[in-house]
Amino acid sequence: MPVALPAPDFHINREALAAAISPRTRALIINTPHNPTGAVMSAEDMRWLENLLASTDIFLISDEVYEHIIFSGTHESALKYPRLAEQSFVISSFGKTFHVTGWKVGYAVAPASLMREFRKVHQFLTFSTATPLQYAIADYLKQPEKYLHVPAFYHKKRDKFCALMQETRFRLTASEGTYFQLADYSAISDEADTDFAVRLTKEVGVATVPVSVFYGQPKQEHLLRFCFAKTDQTLERAVERLAKL
Ligand SMILES: Cc1ncc(COP(=O)(O)O)c(C=O)c1O
Repeated sequence: MPVALPAPDFHINREALAAAISPRTRALIINTPHNPTGAVMSAEDMRWLENLLASTDIFLISDEVYEHIIFSGTHESALKYPRLAEQSFVISSFGKTFHVTGWKVGYAVAPASLMREFRKVHQFLTFSTATPLQYAIADYLKQPEKYLHVPAFYHKKRDKFCALMQETRFRLTASEGTYFQLADYSAISDEADTDFAVRLTKEVGVATVPVSVFYGQPKQEHLLRFCFAKTDQTLERAVERLAKL
């Protein structure tokens, strides 16, 4: 059962999450930093989650693929909370950290007993990862200068994109992490986000993702997700077009 993250900050709704848990709950899936909203779970959220799950046998599946793309504070991994880590599978992606999203190479961290079970599933889902990609990732890992700049690199991109967007009628609350930025277009149009996104792609030449498609029960909040993992020139050209709306 999905538990929606409420606008405008999309931080976890503790009451709704606690209420959604029942004796039939087997696992809880979280994602921080969060795609599409850019919201980040705080240390307080994680401590709360640790307490919530402590007396249960519910597993936590924590999708932390944007762990290195965070713009203030530190990433609060489930692995930092020892009791929580005992019942967690933490998922990471080399794709996001090393700018190789198409490679689909990631890793999971869990206690040995859980990992034994995880491997049985992994064996039939993925079977193996191409050897050359594994060598390339191993090589990257030996060169910290190739990834230590990642947070600062995207922080600069986010700031540039948000500053450029001031020229438009879109309204933004700066993303806390990931390379995604939500923008409210209600000053421009009252179209449904799916229609507006198609029109932007076809008529303006700027592709976005409408936020309603991420919901189990779509809400209409007039929000689009932009990706700012682009060259500065592409960001400038996109905003030049958006400023005419
Ligand atoms: C939250 C989240 N989890 C997992 C993935 C999958 O990552 P990868 O394609 O690097 O395996 C993505 C990719 O967009 C994502 O946004």
